[in-house]
Amino acid sequence: MSNIELHPAKQGLAGRLSVPGDKSISHRAVIFSSLAEGTSHITNFLTGEDCLRTVQAFREFGVAIEREDKDVTIHGKGINALKTPTQPINFGNSGTTARLLSGVLAALPHFSVAYGDESLSKRPMDRVVLPLEKMGAQITGRDQARLLPLAFEGCKLTGTTIEMNVKSAQVKSALLLAGMLADGETTVFEKGITRNHTEMLMSEYGIDLTKVGQRLTIQGNQQPQASDLRVPGDISSAAFFMVAAAITPNSSIAIEGVGLNPTRNGIITALEQMGADITVEQTDSVGHEPVGNIHVESSSLSAITLKGDLIPNLIDEIPIIALAATQAKGQTVIKDAHELKVKETNRIDSVVTNLRNLGADIESTEDGMVIHGPVQLSGGTVNSFGDHRIGMMGAIASYVSEASVEVLDKQCINISYPEFFEHFNKLQKKTS
Ligand code: S3P
Repeated sequence: MSNIELHPAKQGLAGRLSVPGDKSISHRAVIFSSLAEGTSHITNFLTGEDCLRTVQAFREFGVAIEREDKDVTIHGKGINALKTPTQPINFGNSGTTARLLSGVLAALPHFSVAYGDESLSKRPMDRVVLPLEKMGAQITGRDQARLLPLAFEGCKLTGTTIEMNVKSAQVKSALLLAGMLADGETTVFEKGITRNHTEMLMSEYGIDLTKVGQRLTIQGNQQPQASDLRVPGDISSAAFFMVAAAITPNSSIAIEGVGLNPTRNGIITALEQMGADITVEQTDSVGHEPVGNIHVESSSLSAITLKGDLIPNLIDEIPIIALAATQAKGQTVIKDAHELKVKETNRIDSVVTNLRNLGADIESTEDGMVIHGPVQLSGGTVNSFGDHRIGMMGAIASYVSEASVEVLDKQCINISYPEFFEHFNKLQKKTS
């Protein structure tokens, strides 16, 4: 385990940066390109460990995938050319690989076995296994297939109507992918709005899908066609430096080329509601995804209440929003966020434990947390518990702490943001 000691940013933050490619889109681009007929080129691909798990999974199915840093070329030969994997597939720490590929593995005519690391092995898989079983999937696994490892018999599924009982883009995507490969028509009713990258990319790869309100309908036996794609910067990675600039005195930074998909931009809404000095300018769009630049200055923040429909739109940003709340005036309440309990760690516990260790006034609740601010953080130790977003939250806390912060197990940050420490150092103004 490697640790790092980080010091306060006494002079503030300044500069411009481009965050790495979006994690959700990078996974999906590999999935569609690997199932497609023809050669697809993906640029600005996220080279974090999670997305490389999805690449490796399709290599096990015989897909030729070349990668030169952030450029990936996938030589798709179509769904029927995939080969039965000879080894169990390692999903590592990646929940997105595990959930989305369950939809694919259940529906392909191949036997396969999948497993994950210690954290992923604790995360619920029944949320995808049960609805896939309604489509005829044959999946066995640990604890009655509630947990990895799972074995997929691989058989032809039949489309059906599924009402989702969890607000999860991963589950929705697994079912849409299974529906694309099944016989007949699959209809998925979403309980709320979750990120829509799968729907956006289906259209890029020539798949027909209709959406009426919260109802998504897909016809089966569709073959994706190759496409070229530039992945926008990940707003979930940008969020760490957006908050950093807002809470660190004497700061002014710009983050360029960030994906601004309206199902993902809740962090902007939250920071605006807190009174942050933030400007967003859309410059472009790639495929159906809007892209732009975000400029943030040091701000005087006020507390907010986050709940309801906004939660899925910023679920991965809650650790860094909690840090922002420690610097905001008043009582911040985060609720309706039970899903935090089944992320890479139980993020209610890991956020509260770590911020309290740094001197924050924070309590956990059944479905979120309550934070009182502003509080001068003292510094101390942050245990990432192997969770990349907890590690990054701890690192950003060091900018505004009185003394240094030691982040334990810093390498887990490579899961989603391999350049994090390079950017972290680059933004700090140097003493003149
Ligand atoms: C993701 C969806 C979210 C998110 C995860 C990525 C995706 O999970 O937390 O980091 O790419 O679909 P849920 O769908 O389980 O909420």
